[in-house]
Amino acid sequence: MPLDQTYIKPLAYLGLLTLTKTLLTLTRQATTYLLPSTLRKTYNPTQTNWAFVTGATDGIGFGFAQELCLRGFNVILHGRNAQKLARRRDELLAQFPNSHVGVIVRDAQTLSADIDHVEQEVRDIIGAAGPGTGTLTVLVNNVGGEVKPVTLLREYSFEDVQRTISCNAAFAIQITRVLVRLLEESDAGLVLNVSSLAAFGMPYLSAYAASKGFVDSFTKSLRAEFKAEGKKVEVMGLRVAEVSTAGYDVKKTLFVPEGRVLAAAALDRVGCGQEIVWAYFWHWLQGLSFEYLPRSVLMKVAGMKLKALRADLDAKAKTS
Ligand SMILES: NC(=O)c1ccc[n+]([C@@H]2O[C@H](COP(=O)([O-])OP(=O)(O)OC[C@H]3O[C@@H](n4cnc5c(N)ncnc54)[C@H](OP(=O)(O)O)[C@@H]3O)[C@@H](O)[C@H]2O)c1
Repeated sequence: MPLDQTYIKPLAYLGLLTLTKTLLTLTRQATTYLLPSTLRKTYNPTQTNWAFVTGATDGIGFGFAQELCLRGFNVILHGRNAQKLARRRDELLAQFPNSHVGVIVRDAQTLSADIDHVEQEVRDIIGAAGPGTGTLTVLVNNVGGEVKPVTLLREYSFEDVQRTISCNAAFAIQITRVLVRLLEESDAGLVLNVSSLAAFGMPYLSAYAASKGFVDSFTKSLRAEFKAEGKKVEVMGLRVAEVSTAGYDVKKTLFVPEGRVLAAAALDRVGCGQEIVWAYFWHWLQGLSFEYLPRSVLMKVAGMKLKALRADLDAKAKTS
């Protein structure tokens, strides 16, 4: 008796549909890296507007500050160390004499209601720059990192977990809440939230990875909220893989850029229309594996790499 073959054609059509959808998605994602950025035109047409960067004394954050000054912004640097902030402000002013640079000191690991005063501090900094200076149009939520690198959850103390969540997640939502009025007062506002590959869920990084997952969800919710309210504030999440910085001491390669290169790439993505985007093209290429390979395979590879890194850090700690 011949087999029933009625399912063959529908399956072939479904396969074709899946292939078309995958090719369209990949083409859309790839063209993101060719589109011109709308940063200057939309958020700094007068070359007098301000950007606020959290965790701006080193790594990707300082890279953002440099690249924003290069694009004609005045910047407010946030950090926890007043001396280092003053040094970085002087470096920026020497490099970009036409920019105004202000500083805000707050420890992102130990949040308190005192953060509410930041709005007035920012208004004072902008006011002190004199007439003709613009408004706050850009907020970069960059501060973050692992409080205890590659660690089993049971090895964390109560404080370690609280500090990790505060620095990577809570500070971003609180500082955005505090600055949102200033952003809404501008003709157009932009919030960039720095996330991580770790948000996919990684072994040995559970507290850090979870806090970056929080950041992604915050990005999506706030973006939808501004849209629902008809506000001209754009929110975009930035997915980041390995970057050679003070906080992540790895050799620079094509796939591991320096902080400033990553920051420039992120600013180039502004206006691409994606909710969460890989800032840097070569990270996007790596990231495709997370969408198309089975999670069990990826976690095996990530587990081996992070376990080796953990052994390496342990060995270094014992000899130092
Ligand atoms: N580097 C990577 O491979 C990588 C990968 C994925 C995602 N990311 C994300 O990218 C962002 C920046 O990372 P990075 O590698 O550039 O970090 P980094 O080189 O360690 O620099 C972090 C910056 O944040 C500041 N900071 C740290 N803790 C703070 C606190 N409690 N209060 C106030 N400021 C604080 C640091 O100030 P001090 O100078 O005082 O320490 C520094 O300016 C983070 O959100 C990180 O999770 C990085």
